[in-house]
Amino acid sequence: ARIAILISGRGSNMEVLVKAHRAGVFPGEIVLVLSNKEGAAGLDVAEELGVPTATVPSKGRSRDAFEADLSNALSAAEADFVCLAGFMRVLTPGFVSKWEGRMVNIHPSLLPSFIGLHVQEQAIAAGTALSGCTVHYVTADLDAGPIIGQAAVPLLAGDAAETLSARIQKAEHRLYPLAVARALGGEPTVLAEDGVLLSVR
Ligand code: GRF
Repeated sequence: ARIAILISGRGSNMEVLVKAHRAGVFPGEIVLVLSNKEGAAGLDVAEELGVPTATVPSKGRSRDAFEADLSNALSAAEADFVCLAGFMRVLTPGFVSKWEGRMVNIHPSLLPSFIGLHVQEQAIAAGTALSGCTVHYVTADLDAGPIIGQAAVPLLAGDAAETLSARIQKAEHRLYPLAVARALGGEPTVLAEDGVLLSVR
């Protein structure tokens, strides 16, 4: 696969994917890290790692204009698989359908619970005892595509969104490379380590 990683911010999941790829966790080539936000911190991280980068600004642009430029950037890199990693722009059904089965996302909850934004606050408000993260195929329905894998962490008494987010992020960094490996033809995985229960189907 020729893999593009789409980011909007810090890019810690992107960094983990690049390093896991280099460690042989999944095949193919990471051909592009693309941000829809100018100056996203993750772009510097990608550059330091020697991965080609691009910025396609979404701010103030129509969905059609933005997605046309995004398509062009992905075509120019000859990408055929896309990982969304903290990419904060919702893609239209028309765009998503072109990538069906070839685009995955990581979401910081145990789907189907808590879709959309501020999901850590949603989990705390709901009083669940577990939270976690999900890697799923992207479909036209927000955060509702087929699940590839999930990792669970405890939600502790006194958790704030920040402490829970940090715990979930550690689980994300374990899950995402294994889920990408599975999406690209690798084996199912189950592991329980460091307070993280992880299952990739
Ligand atoms: C992650 O928590 C991801 O689940 C959410 O946005 C965050 C991105 O973090 N969609 P990073 O940019 O990968 O550090």
